[in-house]
Amino acid sequence: MKKDRLKWNRRHMQRPAAEDPSKIVAEYASLAEPGRALDIAAGLGKNALYLAQNGFTVEAVDISDAALARYAHAHPNLFAVCADLDTFDIAPGRYDLILNIRFLHRRLFHQIIDALAPGGMLIFETWIRHPEDPSQGPACKDYLLRENELLHAFLPLRIVHYRESHQVEGGRPALMASLVGIR
Ligand SMILES: C[S@@+](CC[C@H](N)C(=O)[O-])C[C@H]1O[C@@H](n2cnc3c(N)ncnc32)[C@H](O)[C@@H]1O
Repeated sequence: MKKDRLKWNRRHMQRPAAEDPSKIVAEYASLAEPGRALDIAAGLGKNALYLAQNGFTVEAVDISDAALARYAHAHPNLFAVCADLDTFDIAPGRYDLILNIRFLHRRLFHQIIDALAPGGMLIFETWIRHPEDPSQGPACKDYLLRENELLHAFLPLRIVHYRESHQVEGGRPALMASLVGIR
């Protein structure tokens, strides 16, 4: 855990402050009932801050204390939680909206479904393993989805959006799976 924290702290300290929210968050979050939100692996907080500014009470969870420190006091309804998602368990039935953007931990799939309150929304977007270009996305293949994997994992939800698409990430091509589902 300590090694991961140091690695991510180094990365986040070199990055500029949070930018605009992810496109999928800007597009779908307004359709969720404003209430309690969880941002899984929130990074520099662009999405967590956007939700707080739009009426949600947000818990932003990340392993990087350096990243969280940069926005922990940016909004009264934003709560920074420094935790390792290798072991952190998500409270059941608690959230009206859960974000999981550019992060993959399969042990959380079932917990995410259980953590949604009835009618709660999940917005999930991350990299898929590119069949012909292994240089796309994170170097560790465990952090890459397989085709259709996200869709199958969240079939217990009512899927309102699912797409596998080529996007551009920091000027580089990336194959992404995007899903929005409602419990
Ligand atoms: C690619 S960044 C994505 C950040 C943010 N969701 C976004 O879209 O801007 C991945 C994030 O996962 C966090 N992370 C990596 N491993 C983690 C772990 N085991 N527990 C909690 N957070 C972790 C990193 O600190 C980093 O902020």
